[in-house]
Formats: sequence, C-alpha cells, structure tokens
Amino acid sequence: MKRDEHLVAPALPALAADVFPALAQQVHGQRLVYLDGAASKLMPQPVIDAIRDYQSRDHANVHRGVHTLSERATALFEDARESVRRFVNAASVQEIVFTRGATESLNMVARGLGERLQPGDEVIVSALEHHANLVPWQMACARSGAVLRHIPVRDDGTLDGPAFEKLLSPRSKVLALTQVSNALGTAVPIRYFVAKARQAGLITVVDGAQAVAHGPVDVRSLGCDFYAFSGHKMYGPTGIGVLYGRFEALDALPLWQGGGDMIETVTLHTATYAALPSRLEAGTPNISGAVGLGAAVRFLESLDRDRVGQAEAQLMDYLEASLEREPWIRVIGQGAPKIGAVSFVIDGVHAHDVGTVLDQFGVAVRVGHHCAMPVMQRFGVPATARASLSLHNTQADVDELLAALAAAKERLS
Ligand code: ALA
Repeated sequence: MKRDEHLVAPALPALAADVFPALAQQVHGQRLVYLDGAASKLMPQPVIDAIRDYQSRDHANVHRGVHTLSERATALFEDARESVRRFVNAASVQEIVFTRGATESLNMVARGLGERLQPGDEVIVSALEHHANLVPWQMACARSGAVLRHIPVRDDGTLDGPAFEKLLSPRSKVLALTQVSNALGTAVPIRYFVAKARQAGLITVVDGAQAVAHGPVDVRSLGCDFYAFSGHKMYGPTGIGVLYGRFEALDALPLWQGGGDMIETVTLHTATYAALPSRLEAGTPNISGAVGLGAAVRFLESLDRDRVGQAEAQLMDYLEASLEREPWIRVIGQGAPKIGAVSFVIDGVHAHDVGTVLDQFGVAVRVGHHCAMPVMQRFGVPATARASLSLHNTQADVDELLAALAAAKERLS
C-alpha cells in the first residue's frame, strides 16, 4: 500500500475536530496528531456538554437529599449506572460498582479475593499485564501465602495457551488477565482463557481497560466473574471507572471501605450493610465522573460500532504495515493480532527522545515502560514508543507519524 493512496475510511462520519474540540488546536505550530488514546482518549463534545450541564445546573449530593437538585443528581448518577449496565450487558445494575478507575476496581477484587486465598493456592496472571493487574495480586499473594503464576509471552507478543493449560491445577484459584495489552496492543483470546479457567473452577477477572472502547463487551456471554475498566479510556472523564461483578461473585467480596452510603443501620458498636452496589461504594461518589461516563457510553452507542470497528481495524493494519516497512523501526511483539496500540523502538535511540521530537511535530505518542515493566524485561528493552488509535484517527495521522519518526531518526542517530 502506498502512503498516498488513502484506502482507509475514517471511523467518524463527521469532521473529527467538530466532535473532539481538542483536535482544533495546534501544538508547536503543527496540527495535533493525537496517537495516545490508549493512555487517555480525547473527550468528545457530548461528554463535555453532559459534564458541564451537570456541574452548572444539577450538582448536588446523591442518595441523601429530598430537594430537587439532589434528586436530579441521583437520577443522573443512577442513569449512568444503567447506561454502563447496558453497555457491558450485565444482568442488573447491582452488578455495576463505580470506582476511581480500573486500578481501583482490580485492587478491590484482589484485596477481597486475597482474603479467601490460602497458603499454596495459586493465582494466574500473564506476563503481559499492566502493573494494575499484577501488583495487587503480588500484594494479595504476599498477604495470604498464595503463589503467583504467569502465562508466558511468546516472541510475537501472544500468550502461550498450552503453557497456561499446564499451569492449571487443583491449586489454581484465580485467573486475572488483560483482554488487550496496553504495552503491545496484543488482543488476547480472552474467551478461550476465561472458558478454560472456568472449566477448571477458577474465579475469572478480566482487565478490560484497553478493550472497552474498541468493540462490544458482553460480560454475560464472556462468562467472567469480574470485569474492570476506566472511563477515560472510553472517551469519558478520568477518576471514574467500573467494576462489573457477577452478582454472586460480587456479593461474596468482603467489604472494601466503610463510611456513608454503604450501611443500613449503625450503632456505636455495630453496623449492618447496604445491598449491592452501595455496600462497595462508601462515601460521596464521583458524580460528575459517572455522568460523563454515562454520556461516553451513549456517545459510543450513537455510532455505527460495526463500521467503527472495521475502520479501526483497517487503520491498525495500515499503522503496523507502515512501521514494519521501515527497516530502522522494530515493532515489539510483531505478529500478534492487535487492538488499538502498537509498540516500537528505533534501535540506538531512546524512546523518550523519540517522543520529545515527535511532540515538536505535533504528534502525541506515549513513551516509556507503559506501566508494564515485565513486558519490557521480556523483550529486553528499557522502553518503547507506543502509537495508539482512537476513532478520530485517520490514515493522514499515521502518515504524519511516519514522517515525524523519519525526522526523529535523522536528528537522533
Ligand atoms: N494505562 C495507561 C496506558 O497504558 C495509562 O497508557
């Protein structure tokens, strides 16, 4: 494919800058090419509007007041929960707990399940995990005496399924696995892993943070016990996320934090607790975050997601092909099916320097270890540059990335 052929149809029907106001600006005098959606997606206008409307008109505390603003805020907050339920196809809003983000969701599960782990029990994660789905399990194992096992990563960035099956034993209690690697973009065949783990009687926890924006999620058909994700990676705000839990699995989690809203009655010495989801949501929640997340769900639902998915997949192919064509660029985990992100290095040049030069051209990528240091260790690199796609990205963005990379190589090597 020649660069000027423009074969990839844009995912968005409207002009991207009309939907994402941040794209109307210039960075260092250049058009902004935002290729860092895996870190945080830009915010579309309907989400900005929903947050502004809530903040300027409806802002009050939830579940506590009988006055009009509190009732409005409560209705908006609980509407957002229903939007999220619909989005992931949970059976009930009781299965949707609002958290600060995927990290808090995963910590809640690891802390809770960790209390039930016995010395010698085993928790299986993969060597592809973000620290958020690794460190909480290290902590849970350290507290309980359980052992952490890892599904190895192959040279092409995929997970080793047969090695996983060999890890399964009567000692295995939990599988905690990412659906899409934030560091390499690897699309993990999550249905296979969850199904095998369930057959072996494990509790299954899926880190869906990098997956939710890029395709339909159906937690019931996936059959996992827990599914964690963040608002800001799906066009919503930061500081809000979700823990989905199958009712029985979530209800079996021990209490997380004590405080207002999670109780039924309290005396000086005792308390009884509210039903799900309130029992896991102590204190005043991030109401405007939830309102923004609900708006992000509705924004995604308003799009033709099949068309968007197809366009994103085509652009991903184009991005990978463009990087792989250059002999001085080395894609890390080359060969794995990818969703949304690709990591690469220019040998002899530090990724941070690459990122700094790209920024001078208005091109935003993430550089570093991507909060997945074991992945960097696995591939023997200290850091990579990672280009990641959002639905506003186009073939022209990829072409500008490649042009800026060529300039960076000239300047730095
Ligand atoms: N977890 C986010 C990323 O991968 C911040 O960039």
